[in-house]
Amino acid sequence: MTKPNRLLITRILPEPVMTRAARNYELTVNDDDLPYSPEELAAALIGQDGALVSLTEKCDAQLIAGAPETLRILATYSVGVDHIDIDAARRRGLIVTNTPDVLTDATAEIAVLLTLAAARRAGEGERMVREGRWQRWSPTGFLGTGLVGKQVGILGLGRIGRAIAARLKPFGVDLHYHSRNPVDAPEISALTYHPSSLDLFSACDVVIIAAAATAQTRHIVNAAAIDALGPQGVLVNVSRGDLVDEDALISALTDGRLAAAGLDVFQGEPNIDERWRTIRNVFLLPHLGSATIETRIAMGMRALDNLDQFFAGGEPADRVA
Ligand code: GLV
Repeated sequence: MTKPNRLLITRILPEPVMTRAARNYELTVNDDDLPYSPEELAAALIGQDGALVSLTEKCDAQLIAGAPETLRILATYSVGVDHIDIDAARRRGLIVTNTPDVLTDATAEIAVLLTLAAARRAGEGERMVREGRWQRWSPTGFLGTGLVGKQVGILGLGRIGRAIAARLKPFGVDLHYHSRNPVDAPEISALTYHPSSLDLFSACDVVIIAAAATAQTRHIVNAAAIDALGPQGVLVNVSRGDLVDEDALISALTDGRLAAAGLDVFQGEPNIDERWRTIRNVFLLPHLGSATIETRIAMGMRALDNLDQFFAGGEPADRVA
């Protein structure tokens, strides 16, 4: 009998995933479920053949260069790979896989939730009820923005961007998008393409960020983009905090140059800028995009599929490096 491959799992995953992993691998699990520091991660990788990491583990060039010879594959429990230095992995010949498709629907649902919550001021209303400050119904109180007939833009029309578009269409909005190139697909033909992100912000009342975090998209939502969206505008982000210049967004929200924002992701999360906690017109979620039980199991199974394919001598389906 061949010896099972050694696999590090850096966070506790849903039970069916752990059970399957334990069947096929000699497992090391971070039982505390606290994100490893870079030093702890480096130490935990010693002697491993593969690692199933999550977005809380930063796998930068230094970590990858110092990873043990035995380590051949990093399977990330995420679709985003911005926490992994992909070029460094390629240089080192380290295979990297992610978990696309299985979290598309869950993340699109959160985008719709944030869009409605921000546009209809759900956070402010909920806080008022909860804190006992609701005194009377008012014809002019808590007026938000309806979606019917509005121009809604999606920045990044990959799998998640398209799923958001499909869900918002029945709300009676006009859909727009910006991505590096126009997307050629029948279901996209009703969406208006904008060759620059600034054009998208200028044309829209609501913009939803669904593009991947890369060096090119860092701070793509800057002061100029926010001002182009305008004082009635709503911004939603389900991608990564790095796409947004948070200083510019915070000043626009507090100065009344943007109506509202709905954010699932932040720079430096979970240690977010303290100012977010006191801004009235932002709806905040703690990175819940993929947080359904069905999705989190499917993500784990997908990561294990990739690991199994690799260790069986095949090409993992979701290889990104
Ligand atoms: C979640 O943010 C992911 O990238 O999977």
